Amino acid sequence: MKKFQVFGAETPEESQRERNHKALARRVAAEGFVLLKNDGVLPLIPCKIALYGPGSRRTIKGGSGSGDVHERHSVTIEEGLKNAGFSFPTTKWMDNFESKYQADIAAWRAQVEKSIEHYKPWDMIKMFDTIHEQPMPYPSCTPVLNEDLTDETDTAVYVLSRQAGEGTDRCVEKGDYLFSDIEIESLKLLSAHYKKLILILNCGSVMDLSILDETRIDAVLFFGQGGMEGGNSLADVLTGVTTPCGRLTDTWAYRYTDYPAADTFGHRNGNLIDEEYSEGIYVGYRWFSTKNILPRYPFGYGLSYTSFSCTADSIEQKDTKITVKVSVNNTGSQYSGKETVQIYLQKPDGAIDHEYCALATFGKTPLLAPGESCTLDLTFDLAELATFDELRSAFVLEAGSYTLLMGENVREAALCGTVALDKERIVEQVSFIGTNELLDDCKYVPSAKAAAALERLTDREKIMLVTGGGVSISAYNNVMGAAGSTTTKLLKKGVPNIVLADGPAGLNVTPATATQRDGTPRFPGGLPDEWKWGWLLKMEKLVTAKPGKGRFAYRYMTAWPSATLLAQTWDTALLHEVGCAIGREMVEIGVSVWLAPGMNIHRNPLCGRNFEYYSEDPLISGKMAAAITNGVQSVGGVGVSIKHFCCNNQEDNRIHVSSNVSQRALREIYLRAFYIAVTEGKPWTVMSCYNRVNGTYVCNSPDLLTHVLRKEWGYNGLVMSDWTATCQCSHAQAINAGNDLIMPGGREVQKALALDLQNGVLDKRALNMSASRVLDLIFKSYTCKDF
Ligand code: BGC
Repeated sequence: MKKFQVFGAETPEESQRERNHKALARRVAAEGFVLLKNDGVLPLIPCKIALYGPGSRRTIKGGSGSGDVHERHSVTIEEGLKNAGFSFPTTKWMDNFESKYQADIAAWRAQVEKSIEHYKPWDMIKMFDTIHEQPMPYPSCTPVLNEDLTDETDTAVYVLSRQAGEGTDRCVEKGDYLFSDIEIESLKLLSAHYKKLILILNCGSVMDLSILDETRIDAVLFFGQGGMEGGNSLADVLTGVTTPCGRLTDTWAYRYTDYPAADTFGHRNGNLIDEEYSEGIYVGYRWFSTKNILPRYPFGYGLSYTSFSCTADSIEQKDTKITVKVSVNNTGSQYSGKETVQIYLQKPDGAIDHEYCALATFGKTPLLAPGESCTLDLTFDLAELATFDELRSAFVLEAGSYTLLMGENVREAALCGTVALDKERIVEQVSFIGTNELLDDCKYVPSAKAAAALERLTDREKIMLVTGGGVSISAYNNVMGAAGSTTTKLLKKGVPNIVLADGPAGLNVTPATATQRDGTPRFPGGLPDEWKWGWLLKMEKLVTAKPGKGRFAYRYMTAWPSATLLAQTWDTALLHEVGCAIGREMVEIGVSVWLAPGMNIHRNPLCGRNFEYYSEDPLISGKMAAAITNGVQSVGGVGVSIKHFCCNNQEDNRIHVSSNVSQRALREIYLRAFYIAVTEGKPWTVMSCYNRVNGTYVCNSPDLLTHVLRKEWGYNGLVMSDWTATCQCSHAQAINAGNDLIMPGGREVQKALALDLQNGVLDKRALNMSASRVLDLIFKSYTCKDF
């Protein structure tokens, strides 16, 4: 029996797979950018441009935290534009900024060093915690001054950047959600000096753009976080190689306070224990359109270099199933382009209040040359948009006339037809979420292989199986840098471990390792450059392989554009393609479960992790998650973990906060996205979240994990906890509730579970069921096929 196996390329040079996936990442980012404003200055012919702003040279390719990716190389905006033939008479400004950046980093490192100097080297975890509490600040911006202006060009591009990530929400403050004074002053100066001024927003999520009301800025592009090819993709769009076709999946308000529950969200009202979802179903555009609040840029909005006409040729109704045939014509004369057709549904006015309209279906055309047309068949079922009637605890479709609206965005959507229901339909009767009584009648039928393996295990071993592998250095499957593993201790019992790696911007693993004869991975050429400082450097010897010793493995993964950008393509076929590419990378490097897609709803623009999620709308979120899931899982032997189920819509105090949400909003908005992903994507696993819903920790909730997910939706896969989530509540109750795998695991969790099994708190049937699901997950993995 092999003790361990190693996946990954044996030599470090760039592979054909890397080149192919880079090309795909470049195309996806270019199609995910949204052109917000263009007063005729774009596209540009490659020329001299005055380039400024922190993101020009220090382009942020993705957010921080678990979703980071250690790619081989990221193309910055400066580099991408240079590759396309642009040149910059303003390198001095960028050099100055770079010096400030380096000085800021040095100051931060010095401060970190000071805060941990009293720790001993073996206090590693404590040191990590202390360091985590003081993340590297993204350097504040350097002003553009008169001396930085040039007369060599009449065109300036300013790249504004923001970083955000796990654990912290954004703030409505200058330099964060608002532009800083330096940014405002710099843009004013540029506007006065240059004939053409283009603003590039290199940030994960919505920003306040009041600057546009005060200062002439000719074009604005939401670049988001474009992944490792972002700079090249931007050049493609700015030069017209790619006609912009991304559309917003969120509403961009004039003022932060225009958003629902703006003043009570997260830290805003000082209450981080209870988060009241007082807006109910009126999230995002549902709020803006119902209250008739004019947003700066509505949901679905995005400009192109060409124009299209869309005509609904026919609407067919078979009971509640609707098909709209739409002809789309590129009416421009110069640029080929793609159009996104959006159809919204307006419900009849009945007994239950409802939103002005809701996205019902959408479709993206292929590339259409000027004058070219195509037809799209857009289908949906009215039942998918049924109203949740809390009094009857049922999804209902009220009788009456349903209006279909079509348009370039939610605000411009206009009547394209009506369909009618002669009588009310009860689509589905469901139960109340929140009683949280354990279910007695839940069953799971394992595969014959899993059932046989389970037979061989003692209770103690089953407990090991339902807790993750913790921090384990040697394992059958071992991918350094991956977030987790299943237990590594049952190899002799015929149960290998599998590896789980983050998501969602790619695969977050260590790119180069040398596995030693005992199976432990080390860094081949010393620590990665960004770790070569201070106390970390002191450990370098311990974790570095002897020159030439060990089995080398190289895992250069693709850093994809952020999830929001992926969704802004409105192209499920493209997301499927990205999913296939990620699946192939998993097979290449020995990862079995991708801890993604992230699919929480953008309830408020301040959520620090919005960039990891798709949209404020559940349909777009669910469809995108299903598409990428189907892509990954079509590769065979690898699967995903859709996360974080559910209502993890803020980062501040994410491990304790209770999302207090009505049954209706839960059903129509927050669960709906997951429902679509579960039923259309059949993900291998679901990750439960840290937070509570209506007072109950989700990882301890039988209602959500078993009743809704398994009984109502027919989900047959595994549920894992988010990392250490069960430490806030009960490990045993998690298993009883249907949370099969407790991550990241470790001895303490096992001890607690063993005790709870003894004293009857941990249900033995639940333990068997969860252990069987873990076994089935392991045996499905391609990394265990030769075992
Ligand atoms: C995050 C998850 C992630 C996990 C493993 C958690 O802190 O919330 O999204 O998958 O860590 O890294």
